[in-house]
This record gives sequence, structure tokens and C-alpha cells, in this order.
Amino acid sequence: MKHVYRGQIFHVAGSAKVTTAEEALVFVADGALVVDSEGSIEWCGEFADLPTEHEHAAIVDYRPGFILPGFVDTHIHFPQTYAGDSYGGGQLLEWLERCIFPSESKFGDRDFGRAAAVEFTNQRVRAGTTAAMVFGSAFPDAQDALFEETQRRGLRVVSGRGIQTRGPDSAGPLITSEEKAIELTAAEVDKWHAADTGDVDTALLHVALVPRFSLSVTPTTMAALGELYTDLRSKGVYVHTHLNENNRPGTGEVDATKADYQVNSYLDTYDGKFLPGSKVGGESLLGPRTIMAHSVHCQDGELARMAETGTSISHCPVSQLFLGSGTMPWLRTVESGVNISLGTDHGGGDEWLISRVANDAFKVHITEPGDAGVSMHPAEMLFVATLGGARALDMENRFGNFDTGKEADFLVIDPERWPSLANAIDNGARADDEKMARDQMLFALLMQLREPAISAVYVKGRKIDDV
Ligand code: GUN
Ligand code: ZN
Repeated sequence: MKHVYRGQIFHVAGSAKVTTAEEALVFVADGALVVDSEGSIEWCGEFADLPTEHEHAAIVDYRPGFILPGFVDTHIHFPQTYAGDSYGGGQLLEWLERCIFPSESKFGDRDFGRAAAVEFTNQRVRAGTTAAMVFGSAFPDAQDALFEETQRRGLRVVSGRGIQTRGPDSAGPLITSEEKAIELTAAEVDKWHAADTGDVDTALLHVALVPRFSLSVTPTTMAALGELYTDLRSKGVYVHTHLNENNRPGTGEVDATKADYQVNSYLDTYDGKFLPGSKVGGESLLGPRTIMAHSVHCQDGELARMAETGTSISHCPVSQLFLGSGTMPWLRTVESGVNISLGTDHGGGDEWLISRVANDAFKVHITEPGDAGVSMHPAEMLFVATLGGARALDMENRFGNFDTGKEADFLVIDPERWPSLANAIDNGARADDEKMARDQMLFALLMQLREPAISAVYVKGRKIDDV
């Protein structure tokens, strides 16, 4: 059955970049989103202009609520479902060793992992996260539960088991031999990649190769992953990992990685150049289906290489604040041309809602020193929360905005369900200039949104059952 969803519509149309998001921002005050029986968008515009061919479609009236493209979270940790706000008395490396490796080890218990998959997926529905790159558990049973539950609920996911072939004692249960790491990863691709439809171009389920970070795998594992990825690239398999997150002097991950591999740049370790002196030791893991979480402390050459290879950044300011990792330089990163998306990084971050990440992004970038301090445009915030995420997942042709022909992933926001949002929308002062008033309303919507105000979530035109 064809449906017309009515509401106040915002989206970033076409194939905008973050630099052109403002021009591409679309607002339709009395909007109509026409979705066909297959879940594809047939039309989006003013209800008053609805073409007659859609006149007999069933109307679902969400006015005066808002309709936005589904949120895309390009970095979130499934085995950290219960680890938000874990106190370890240190920054990244101490926190991993003291809090995260023990938390993730609990997923070795089958029932625990299954229950966590249900809760993780519920949290995604509450947060309107229709698509996500999910950093997976080391344990295949837990990963099976994640894929099964995601499929049952009808969300999109790209995920892969977190690969570790070395680490401190507390990571012991997460570490496998080098051979086993590759065997388990290849088996996960066989079992789950496009398992729902058998076709990567229509699937909601996809698999990624996920070395935790360079310090968690040996150069031999890095070489084996490069070989595996060379075999799997053409099948639409993904790569996901962390890059240049924390550079605390003395104990930071960036210096530790460079010292460990003796390379010129952290990115080299993922780019096949993981031997001392950045000598080539294997195949590159970079490409248009590769997402590097954080990328806070990148050299210009690293940003250029990511842009050149189509590799995307998952920007995670909530987590960067929590772990003292610093601020990704916004203007410099944008200027490099690399695609930027947003990640909650839960449990490094303590939020599940992507607009909360956009909220912290706004705050940290306006606080950058001197001329680097910028007030992000609300269209840029919406872009990184939606279309930029779809591009990072290399599925921009399928979702991310309301262009005709795309699959209808969207969320409905009812401000009345969250008083401070309703207050900001109903009573906030607005400029006389129409465009500025529109931007102010989108800003209020993104900054004040909290989970309770998300009243409905749709993937491919199908309404996801409430939690
Ligand atoms: N680097 C390696 N593992 C992790 C992790 O679990 N969280 C974050 N934020 N950074 C990491
Ligand atoms: Zn992370």
C-alpha cells in the first residue's frame, strides 16, 4: 500500500557535501513524503502540490511533528551496551584496560550476549538510528545474536567481530590466535554478509572486518587482514577501526602506535605500510567502505589519503570529551575533502542519540581556538547525522535523504513528548528572515531533541515496532 506521511520535513537533498549542505537544505512546512508499497520514496514536497496520482494513498498525519531522514551512527560498540560512563581513572588506554576489556569479556556468556543484543537494538530504535556501523563483540555467538535481533526488528546494520591478537591481561578473553582471528572473521562474512536478501545491494545486513586498533593486532594479523580484504572488497564488505584518537603525552595511543610499528603515520598501519619506516608489508584496508573512528589528531597527509581513497571519518565528540581525547579540528578536516559522519562511540560516549553527538560537535567546534572556532550551520549538523553517514556506509544511493527513488528511512519527532523541545520550537524567537528562521528552528530541533520525542521510526518504509 502506498502512504503519504504528513509533517514538517527537513532533509539535505541530492549528493551534497558538508560544504554545500546549507544550499542543499530542504524544509517543507506542510510536507508530504510519498512512500510506495516497496518502501521507496516516490515524491517529497508540499502537501498542497501532491500530484494527483498519489491522491488515493493512505495518509498518515504526523503534523505538527517533524519528519527527518533516519539517523546514521557510524561508530558504536555493541559489547559496550552496558559500559556507558565507565570509570577507570584514566584516559583511553587505561579505560580500555580497566573497564572495557572486562565489560566486553562478559559477552562470552551466551545468554548475556543475547540479552545485550536485545537491549542494544532497543536503544537504537529509541534513538532513531536506522543505520549503523557497529563495532562488534569478539564472540561469534554474541555477533549472531546481534545480526538476528537486528534482522528481527528490521534495522540496518554493518558489523563485524572485534579482532584482537594481542593486548594486556584484561583483554585475555577477547584475544585469539592469528589464524583463528582470520578464520572467525571469514566465517562471519560467509554467514551474515547480505544474509537477509542474498544481494548486497538490497540487504539490510552487512559485515565489516574490524581490527580493534593497531595496538590490538600484530603486523602479521594486519597483513592477513589485507589479504582477506583484497578477496572480499568486491563483495561489498566493510572495514572499521579506530584512528588517531588520543595523544596524551607519554601514555597516548597515537605515540604508542607510532612507536610500536615504527611508522611515520598511524594511518600507514592500515594502509599496507605497517613495517618499520612505513615500508609496504601488505594490502591496504582503506577505501569507500572503510570508516575510521575519531581521526582527531591527523597529519595533513593522513587526511589527504583518506579523502583520496574515499575512506570516511566517524566523528565522535561525545566520546572525545569523555576520554579527554581532544577536538578534531573541524575546518582543517572539512577542507581536506574527507567525508565526515557522526558516531556515538557508546560506551566511550554516554549517548545513543546521534543528534546529541551533533550537539557536542557544535559546542566543541565553536570552542576551538582563534579562527578555527566556528559555529556549525544546522544543515551541516543534519548532513553529518544523515547523508554523510549514508555516504560513509557507501549506501548513499539507498538512504540518507528524501530524494525520489531512495529507500524510506525516516523518523518522526513529536515535540510535545519532550517539553524543553516543545518550548524551543513553539516559543523560541525567530528572525524575520525566512531562511534564518528555518535554520534557527532546525538548530533548536537538533539541539533539544531527546529520545522520548522520537515517536516513530521507519526503515525502508516499514514502521519499526516500539520498544
Ligand atoms: N580504541 C580501541 N578500542 C577502543 C574502544 O573500545 N573505544 C574507543 N573509544 N577507542 C578505542
Ligand atoms: Zn570506539
